[in-house]
Amino acid sequence: MDRVIIFDTTLRDGEQSPGASLTVEEKVDIAHQLARLGVDVIEAGFPITSPGDFEAVQRIAREVRTATICGLARAVPADVDRAYEALKDAEDPRIHVFISSSDIHLVHQIRKSRQEVLEITDAMVRRAKSYVSNVEFSPMDASRSEREFLVDILRVAVEAGATTLNIPDTVGYAVPEEFGNLIAYLIEHVPGADRVVFSTHCHDDLGMAVANSLAAVKRGARQIECTINGIGERAGNCSLEEVVMALRTRSDYFGIDTRIDTTQLYKTSRLVSNYTGILVQPNKAVVGANAFAHESGIHQDGVLKERTTFEIMDPRDVGLRESTLVLGKLSGRHAFKARLEELGYHLSPEDLNRAFARFKELADKKKTVSDQDLAMIISDEVRAPTEIYRVDHVQVSCGDHSIPTATVRLIGPDGTVLCDSATGTGPVDAVYKAVNRLIGVENRLIEYSVQSVTAGLDAIGEVTIRIEANGRVFGGRGADTDIIVASTRAYVNALNKLIAAAREPAVAVLSGDHG
Ligand code: KIV
Ligand code: ZN
Repeated sequence: MDRVIIFDTTLRDGEQSPGASLTVEEKVDIAHQLARLGVDVIEAGFPITSPGDFEAVQRIAREVRTATICGLARAVPADVDRAYEALKDAEDPRIHVFISSSDIHLVHQIRKSRQEVLEITDAMVRRAKSYVSNVEFSPMDASRSEREFLVDILRVAVEAGATTLNIPDTVGYAVPEEFGNLIAYLIEHVPGADRVVFSTHCHDDLGMAVANSLAAVKRGARQIECTINGIGERAGNCSLEEVVMALRTRSDYFGIDTRIDTTQLYKTSRLVSNYTGILVQPNKAVVGANAFAHESGIHQDGVLKERTTFEIMDPRDVGLRESTLVLGKLSGRHAFKARLEELGYHLSPEDLNRAFARFKELADKKKTVSDQDLAMIISDEVRAPTEIYRVDHVQVSCGDHSIPTATVRLIGPDGTVLCDSATGTGPVDAVYKAVNRLIGVENRLIEYSVQSVTAGLDAIGEVTIRIEANGRVFGGRGADTDIIVASTRAYVNALNKLIAAAREPAVAVLSGDHG
């Protein structure tokens, strides 16, 4: 079957989601998971934007050897050079150069004539090509650009050595049939089109990013740029899990395959949600909590008789499966390790020790420990790289006639024990004030939400928060059977990120015309 290249930009465009700042460790961890998922290209970041982004791209280039690693660059020499610096150790490095092509952008934003834009494209694609053979070029805001000029700029890019031509619907303006027609037109009119791969990069402002990407594939595009959970600038990007499952489920219609191991989709979605603090809406296609839940009696009856009556996808194909092994407080280390391995988690002995201790703690409170609980343990205990402060103890007293009071004990850097109490308008407020007295970092809580990981009264509560400090937003999450403890963990998790970011060297200032 014909194949489409899956280009994941979770770590670049996805990280441009408001509040989704990721640490270097988190990015590296996500990149490894994307490689396990089988994506062909990982856009690891935009190296000129900050030392942290540079370091993340460099580490991913060095560590992830089974995918092409890509770095974004504006069409300016310093960006292209910096991207190469970060990527040069990759097995297959790709530099992605972009410049605006629509008149709206040329006149109002970059203030350059079309001729100047053509000359810059030529020079910068050539510069990228002098470093690497794998060069992608994007005319930004392509869907609102004049077709003849698009043909011109793409011709110049091909002549200068571009191997992938990416057509961004930067502002999510396109509709499927029109976007498909644009791709077909470009493939027909750009000289040398048969030597390059046409790609799509669709934003979801009108909720059509997946539909537009599929329409483009139908008309000849062979690379889809997408993100896990569809995160990204504003309303986000084309969602990887949706587009991949659409191609797979409707292979009768598209006749096109991907290299994705779909059984890794659910796990990857959870990992990205945990690290970014961006929750997955329950009715989200493919990975939402309700995506395979049947509420109506007629549907339940049908599914019990024959799954395919109301299910077009098998939940096991996206990595959701009934546990064959029920874990509880009597389960030993061997059963715990075996279950983790079945789920694809291969831990080092130290990580296994930490995860097992947390499992025992949880199994004391909960009768059975589900796969979702295990995923939570892994993301809390094993994949929580930014731990400057750790929550050691939380105690609250509250009720309708008492003043909510909280005592919090934290373990700080070098094992120092910090303990304090505070009162507040409610138990969470009291806990946050006690933490503020201990850590003392100015910030504003802008979002707080709580969800249950599994069903039942003993379910784990997962708290997701966002805090804002100096114009930057940091997400945090925490999970526990006690939601006050989960809230404390979430807050300390966000504060750890804030403190880690404050220690990073200053961020390079971009002139505003970045993707
Ligand atoms: O949306 C966009 O146009 C982009 C480009 C940098 C490809 O993200
Ligand atoms: Zn974009």
